[in-house]
Amino acid sequence: MPRKLFVTTALPYANAPFHIGHIMEYVQADIWVRFQRLQGHKVNFVCADDAHGAPIMLKAEAEGVTPEELVAKVAESHRRDYQRFGISFDNFYSTHSEENRELSAEIFLALQKAGFIETKTIEQFFDPVKKMFLPDRYIKGECPKCGTKDQYGDSCENCGAVYAPTDLKNPYSALTGAKPVLKKSDHFFFKLSDPRCVEFLRAWTQDGKLQPEVANKVREWLDSGLNDWDITRDAPYFGIEIPNAPEKYFYVWLDAPIGYLASLRNYLEKKGQDFAKYLADPKVEQIHFIGKDIIYFHTLFWPAMLKYSERKVPDNVYVHGFLQLSGEKMSKSRGVSVSPQRYIDIGLNPEWIRYYFAAKLNAHVEDMDFNPDDFLARINSDLVGKYVNIASRAAGFIGKRFGGVLSEEPLSAGRELKHKMRGNLAAPVPDDEQAPAILFEVRSFADAIAADYEAREFSKAIRQIMFLADRVNQYVDEQKPWEIAKEAGQDAALQWFCTLYLELFRILTIYLKPVLPKVAEEVEEFLGLKPLAWEDVGTPLKTGHKVQPYRHLVSRIDSKQIDELLEPPAEAKPEPPAKASVVAEAPEFKLEPIEPPRPPVILPVGDTISIDDFSKIDLRIARIVDAELVPDADKLLKLTLDIGIESNRTVFAGIRTVYTPKDLIGRLTVMVANLAPRKMRFGESQGMVLAAGDGNSIYLLAPDSGAMPGMRIK
Ligand code: MSP
Ligand code: ZN
Repeated sequence: MPRKLFVTTALPYANAPFHIGHIMEYVQADIWVRFQRLQGHKVNFVCADDAHGAPIMLKAEAEGVTPEELVAKVAESHRRDYQRFGISFDNFYSTHSEENRELSAEIFLALQKAGFIETKTIEQFFDPVKKMFLPDRYIKGECPKCGTKDQYGDSCENCGAVYAPTDLKNPYSALTGAKPVLKKSDHFFFKLSDPRCVEFLRAWTQDGKLQPEVANKVREWLDSGLNDWDITRDAPYFGIEIPNAPEKYFYVWLDAPIGYLASLRNYLEKKGQDFAKYLADPKVEQIHFIGKDIIYFHTLFWPAMLKYSERKVPDNVYVHGFLQLSGEKMSKSRGVSVSPQRYIDIGLNPEWIRYYFAAKLNAHVEDMDFNPDDFLARINSDLVGKYVNIASRAAGFIGKRFGGVLSEEPLSAGRELKHKMRGNLAAPVPDDEQAPAILFEVRSFADAIAADYEAREFSKAIRQIMFLADRVNQYVDEQKPWEIAKEAGQDAALQWFCTLYLELFRILTIYLKPVLPKVAEEVEEFLGLKPLAWEDVGTPLKTGHKVQPYRHLVSRIDSKQIDELLEPPAEAKPEPPAKASVVAEAPEFKLEPIEPPRPPVILPVGDTISIDDFSKIDLRIARIVDAELVPDADKLLKLTLDIGIESNRTVFAGIRTVYTPKDLIGRLTVMVANLAPRKMRFGESQGMVLAAGDGNSIYLLAPDSGAMPGMRIK
């Protein structure tokens, strides 16, 4: 039976473009949602802008626009950006909407009727010039403890003391500088401390559904006693007016989560579906993805509001930690952040960062570090070097030798491979029992990987998938299709093996599809398949089927692109989003200074040569078919190279300090093919492979994928 899921991410404040932390949250939820859809479940995945509140009102005023105009402008950037990162929201709405106004009023009136709303008279700082009550963060003054000047109304940046704004010495309004006066106002409170409410929340939060660390935190709050919640703000305020209470508005955090329902309602009604009926369905599971800073709102206020307005309560709240940035190449003096807008603008592939987040995310509330070197390595060596590599190794032969047509023979039976020669060694002929075994192995991971996605253990899923990609590559290395390709009478075998590699690649593509939707789409196009679902793991490619010409799927990241991403942008940083005062501010992306890497020695350019001089050097693409240690030579590796016309060139290369044979076998590189042979103690070296660097750091050259052994380099 397909599940019915109603999934949300936290609603971003509509006062600034997304920062990379938002994107991480949305990618996490999106991977989970896409996975559910691949399983055949029905998901409504919605979000909206959180449009209300004093900070937005004041920012609009400062910019000389109406709050509606400000919110509309930000909404446009939010919509553009979530789409650019492949987030598959079904609806992206706004809390400043008719649906939200209606739902907020209904919920408030229901709570009032049930006896959960109380009126209290409070005393608060009021700015006599601006004629408004001041939120805590707009009151400044001297710390009551240490006396530091210009501290905010809730805590001191110098000594860390926490206090009420009325405790500040010589308080002033951060808006006008005026001395605030205390003024009374009647406010509505939600009675969170009501024993019925506390009992309900204890049950709802401690029944095992929440992540253990979240449940523990909430238990501490429950044990220390819940305060009633002030849900009122006085005019002027950008928000929703409270019914029957002129000049009173709902506090933004009351109408914000109701925005989840407003967005869902807007979406369902656009589709002609009944919102009330949908939520009345006991099978619908309501799940919220949020960051750790807004747990209180989502595990206490929100379920209680829903419960006592007689609505469906959430089925779960999935909490993630914060994304931080570390790195080497940045200035110590200023915090640098990775801007998602810049990420796209300089042409970085959104699927890269989706993959990186997936490779690091788990089901715990752990902070995550964005490490530029790790990012580069995971994309280049895992995603491209392992996964994409499988397709490029097989696709060339299928395209060029067989006109894009897959083998007519079924894959399930295995295939006997009459392999005459491997290099110049007489190789044993493997009777290939491995093919059915590897197909079975790669398929057999489907359930385990699915379980990891379901449990939001994405890094485990990615580890398993990369383990399989390694297995497949090893298998290709053993089969050596590039050698089969050179043997007469082995066409059918070559075609069959390459078909098998593509089938294995197809299965891995299904496993990665929640993370890499665009790549998966391109693979589907290349293989001529309908959109792949999870159950297609067991439906192999059709024999004799024709595939499209192969285009490279994902390119490598160039470290220059990372430098460009991390360079501090020239413009000023956007203001951090405003937070309710009960929660911690989102930490800025501050960098810890790390010792910079030693710069390489860059020599001046050498003497000019003519094109004729250059063309004397016969450079060829070479496949490293074998690599061995050389006894008594701790700097050398003995390489056996295949350059198309010859398959067993021996080259002794001084790269042992950096590479192991395992790293090299199967790789393509570049060799000087017409270098005079040189007799060495260990044997004859018949050419040279090309590498950059000096003694300690050596970087073997590698061609772009698609290059074949023997191709000449000009
Ligand atoms: N508007 C409220 C949420 C209302 S939900 C009914 C809000 N907005 S926010 O823009 O500040 O944050 C939106 C989401 O982004 C939150 O879940 C927050 O935890 C998350 N993140 C903000 N900074 C983040 C990081 N640095 N890292 C990861 N997530 C981050 O709170
Ligand atoms: Zn202080």
